[in-house]
Amino acid sequence: MERRLFCQSLALGTTGSSLAALPFAAHADGSPEAGATLGAFNQQRSRAPWTLGFEGLQADLAPQPMQLRGKLPRDLRGTLLRNGPAQHSLGDVRYQHWFDGDGMIQQYRFSDQGLQHQGRFLRTQKFVAENAAGRRLHHSFGTQVAGGSPMASADAGNVANTSVVHHAGETLALWEGGSATLFDAGTLETGGLKTWTPEHAGMPFSAHPKIGADGSLWNFGVSSMHGLLSIYQVSARGQVRTATLQVPDMAMVHDFAVTEQHLVFLLPPLIFDRDRAQAGNTFMNSHVWKPELGMRALVLHKDRLNQPQWMELPSGFLFHTGNAWEDGKGVIHLDYVRSADASSVIQGFRALMRGEFGGEPAHAVARVELDTRSGRARQTLQAHHAEFPRIDPRFVGRRNKQLFMAERVAVSNRPGFDCITRLDLDSGKVDRYRYGADVMVEEHVFIPARSGSGKEAEGWLVGTALDLRSRRTLLSVFDARLLAQGPLAQGSMDRAVPLGFHGTFILA
Ligand SMILES: [Fe+2]
Repeated sequence: MERRLFCQSLALGTTGSSLAALPFAAHADGSPEAGATLGAFNQQRSRAPWTLGFEGLQADLAPQPMQLRGKLPRDLRGTLLRNGPAQHSLGDVRYQHWFDGDGMIQQYRFSDQGLQHQGRFLRTQKFVAENAAGRRLHHSFGTQVAGGSPMASADAGNVANTSVVHHAGETLALWEGGSATLFDAGTLETGGLKTWTPEHAGMPFSAHPKIGADGSLWNFGVSSMHGLLSIYQVSARGQVRTATLQVPDMAMVHDFAVTEQHLVFLLPPLIFDRDRAQAGNTFMNSHVWKPELGMRALVLHKDRLNQPQWMELPSGFLFHTGNAWEDGKGVIHLDYVRSADASSVIQGFRALMRGEFGGEPAHAVARVELDTRSGRARQTLQAHHAEFPRIDPRFVGRRNKQLFMAERVAVSNRPGFDCITRLDLDSGKVDRYRYGADVMVEEHVFIPARSGSGKEAEGWLVGTALDLRSRRTLLSVFDARLLAQGPLAQGSMDRAVPLGFHGTFILA
C-alpha cells in the first residue's frame, strides 16, 4: 500500500512527540500541592461517597466470578475490555489530575458459566520503574512531581490509560500522548510498544481510532511541540499508510470522525503554548483557552490528505464525537458532545482528585453540517448532560440515527452520570434507563446481534457502573432498543473498580 509522508523533512522520532519534547523538570522542583492533594482527598472520603470511584488501586485484581441476575443473551459470548487510570497514588504523592493515573485493564468475560472479572495494570515502562522505586519518578499530564526527573521520551511517561482497540489480530491499550501498548486480551500480559513505521516511532497514536465497513482503521496522533498531526490508515491485514500535516495553533484534540470520503477534526480553542511548555509547565498547563479562535473544523479528503479545508464553528470544547456521514451533496453531518468551555479538563478533573466537586459546564449533543462546497458550517444543539457517545459500529462513517451515551438527569451533587440513554438524533426522542442517583454510570458499548437483520441498534448494550451504596461495580446487559425496560442481565462483584474511560467488546 502506498505510504505518504508529506513532511518527511520533519523528524518524527521520539523527540517529535507531544510530551517527549517538553523539558519537564529541567528546573521544576515539583508542586507542594501533590502532597496536599492526598490529604484533601483522604479528608473527603467519608463525606463524599462518590470519591470511591477515584480512590485508585495499588495491585491487580485477581479473577473472580460475578454474581449474575437474569440471563446473558445466548449469542453474547466474549470479552469486554475497559481501560482507565487506576493508580492515582504512589508513596505519599497523589496525582492532581484524573488523567494522570497509570492504566489498568478491566476484563469481563462472558461465558456459558456466567461473568468473570479480573483487572491488571499495564506494565508500561513508567509503571514498572515507578513501582519498583516505590515513588513517582516523572512529571505527568497534569502533575509536577517533587524530585521528578525529565522524561527521555513521551513513552517514558506513557500511562496507556485511555482506551482499547482490537484490530488486525492485535489488542492495543491507547493513550493520546504516546505509542499504543500491545497486550494479551486473554491473560492481560503487557507486550511492547506498537511502532507503525520507523519514522513514527514514539509519535502518538490517539485513543479513538475508527474502524470502517472495509475493516480498515483510521487514527491520528498529535505532536503539540512541533504542531504536527499524523494520520494513520491501517488495513484489516495490518498494512499502514501515513501522512503528516503541519497545523497552526495546535489544539488539544482527543477524538475525530470519519466518513466514506473524509476525516474531520474539531479543534477546540484549547491551544498548546510552546513557551509555557518550555517554562516547565505540565502538558495540561501548557494549554491556553483562546475562545477568539472559535472551534475550527479541519476536513481532509482521504485521497488528498495534504489539502486541508478549514471551517469555523462557535467556540466550545469537546472530548468526543459520535459519528459523521456525508449526504452526497457535499455536506458532512457530524455529531459531538459539546460544552461551552474547557473548565472540566482544566479545573474539574483536578478537583476530583482532591475529592471536590464544584459542578460542571452544561453539555449538549451538537449536530453539525459542514458544507465542503461552500465552506460554510452550521450547528444545532440538543440539551443533554451526557458523555461517552457510542454508536452501532456497523454505521461508522455512514448515515446513523442512534446515539448511545451516559447521561445525567437527576443528580447534581456529585460528578458523573446516572442514566444510560439512546437518543434518536433525528426525532430527539430518548429511550433511557435510570440507574439512580447513587450509581455512577460509565461508558456502555454496543454489540450487534449476530442473528439480527443488520438494522441499526439491533443488538446489545453493555457497560459498567459503580453502585455507591453497596460499593460494588455492576456490569449490565441491555437490549439496545429497549433500554427503559432495564437490564436483561446484571453482574455485580464485591469490589469497586476505579472509574475508567473507554472499552471494546471482542466477540468469542
Ligand atoms: Fe475519550
